[in-house]
Amino acid sequence: MDDAQVERAKRRAGESAAETVDDGDVVGLGTGSTAAHAIRALGAAVDAGRDVVGVATSHQSRAVAREAGVPLQPLAAVSRVDVAVDGADETLPDGRALVKGGGAAHAREKVVDAAADRFLAVVDERKVVETLSHPVPVEVLPPARSAVAARVASLGGEATLREAVRKDGPVVTDNGSLVFDCDFGVVDDPERLATALSAVPGVVEHGLFVGLADAVHVGGPDGVRVTGG
Ligand code: A5P
Repeated sequence: MDDAQVERAKRRAGESAAETVDDGDVVGLGTGSTAAHAIRALGAAVDAGRDVVGVATSHQSRAVAREAGVPLQPLAAVSRVDVAVDGADETLPDGRALVKGGGAAHAREKVVDAAADRFLAVVDERKVVETLSHPVPVEVLPPARSAVAARVASLGGEATLREAVRKDGPVVTDNGSLVFDCDFGVVDDPERLATALSAVPGVVEHGLFVGLADAVHVGGPDGVRVTGG
């Protein structure tokens, strides 16, 4: 797919998931370019009279929702979500495990996606793989960075501090933390790695989402297929 086809595939995936949102739903709003298409589609549905409330997962998704006219509730006020629509950097075909956090929003995304009755991942077909190998984003407390990097190495990974673009120094998340991109090569057992990373002191959250997605809406050049669930 060329760039224009990829963009259309992302839009198809986002719109397909947004179509499943019911009147009265509390909707988790994922971060990234694919989720943004879903948010805009929800905004169009709100314009047409649908009654939904969004829960943003980042400054970015909040800004897109405001522009699209999706009413918002703060994450801190929400204990459950009807449906979350969120992108991914890589996914197994059935959505059993995803890598997220390319936009450093995975900590709040995981809170929202895990609280959802239905979590719909939205991706273009380039993101679907038989085995995960994308570096795993790991958000860390700033003073824990050296200790966490050493623990990642002991788990077989190489941690690279994510550097900001158009700002000197590292990426600082919406939570005031740093992000390592941790290259583990091929991840044969995502569940085991997820459990090990969650147990490292100083890790705020990592980008392995295991057993959370209920379906994956996969956009391609000719349409959308829905897998998993
Ligand atoms: C944000 O931190 C990520 O989890 C995104 O959801 C992920 O990087 C996918 O983004 P795109 O839809 O822009 O590829």
